[in-house]
Amino acid sequence: MTPAFHGRRIALAVSGSIAAYKAALVARLLVTEGAEVQALFTRSASQFVGAATFAGITGRPVLCEMFASDAAGERHVEIAKRSELLLIVPATADLLARLASGRADDLVAATALCCTCPVVAAPAMHPAMWSHPSTQRNVGTLVGDGRVRLVGPVHGEVASGDHGVGRMSEPEAIVAAALAALAPRDLLDRHVVVTAGPTVEDLDPVRFLSNRSSGKMGFAIAARAAARGANVTLISGPTALPTPVGVTRIDVRSAIEMQAAVDRALGADLGAADALVMAAAVGDYRPARAHEKKLKRGPGALELELVPNPDILATVGAARGGTRPVLVGFAVEADTEAQVVAYARAKLDSKRVDVVVANHAADAFGKDDNRVSLVTRDGVQALGPAPKSELADPILDFVAQKLREQG
Ligand code: CTP
Repeated sequence: MTPAFHGRRIALAVSGSIAAYKAALVARLLVTEGAEVQALFTRSASQFVGAATFAGITGRPVLCEMFASDAAGERHVEIAKRSELLLIVPATADLLARLASGRADDLVAATALCCTCPVVAAPAMHPAMWSHPSTQRNVGTLVGDGRVRLVGPVHGEVASGDHGVGRMSEPEAIVAAALAALAPRDLLDRHVVVTAGPTVEDLDPVRFLSNRSSGKMGFAIAARAAARGANVTLISGPTALPTPVGVTRIDVRSAIEMQAAVDRALGADLGAADALVMAAAVGDYRPARAHEKKLKRGPGALELELVPNPDILATVGAARGGTRPVLVGFAVEADTEAQVVAYARAKLDSKRVDVVVANHAADAFGKDDNRVSLVTRDGVQALGPAPKSELADPILDFVAQKLREQG
């Protein structure tokens, strides 16, 4: 799967607080997810953490001074221009005060003043400092000006052993906030239900019928929908994939279980969801009987009776009165290009869906990249070959567009 921050340029500003050690974990998570991270230190940051740690993690020297003899041009201007996101971890009371009053008295403050990209700050301080009217006023100014988004602080134990609101958010939450700040927010507060992975139909305690779906496409769609602001319910068959940040995951096994989870997520009259993306490879049949004990080998042939599973998507399509939820189906076929598109067109009507994402079995299963056709009643759009995470966005563009049209 393409990493969530693939190629994104992030300036990570670290200020002087005990929580600064967690900024190293944030840097690590961002780099692992493909970001280019430039660490900036306030002068007091190095009292708490070492520049060598951040340089080692990010692969770039840490910058602290505004004016350095070896730097051509103005550092704060260059960093501000280059960065797609300024992430301040931790943000001390002093730094928030300086930012709120528009100071430019060190590299971090000057960069923040110069940035037009989103700025996300993770405050960390003693609860008494956080609740102080001065800090609250500064935070109110920064958030009110619309130039800084905050992640945390949260309630918990702080370095002194005291409890209260002031503890810095955990690295994973900070990274989720960074991702959210980078993406378009065109699915904000929409409820998007995504199914992913294979279904597994048990035959006996050790044997089952399943398919080769890895779940990567559905997980990529869930991750991107969350990054674009949606509340995402990801209903997944058995996969080895980690849950994307900010996504509510429901694990299921069989098609019947998946249908029950989809029904719950869509709610009565399908009113609880704005879109259903059926990326799961749902098994069409299940054994007529799941044996409680392991089937023993016999002398002759073994006949398995299979009974049809419900068609989850077609059932929702048939029940949908109007245009909500937007319905996205997938079609995996092993056939010629023209035939794949023709099958997809037929599924638009047979399943009563808004778009069918058609792909070739040979291109799709288990791979990180894919090549698909978005087949709608208006035409066909060919996408890829591209990483599945990049294909997720055009699919969600279609969903966002449909939802906008519906108001
Ligand atoms: N699907 C579903 N329930 C099923 C089978 C499929 O909801 N029991 C959904 C899939 O998640 C996918 C779409 O229907 O979004 C198309 O699935 P596909 O297997 O390609 O189509 P089928 O209807 O099973 O047709 P066929 O296998 O005969 O091509």
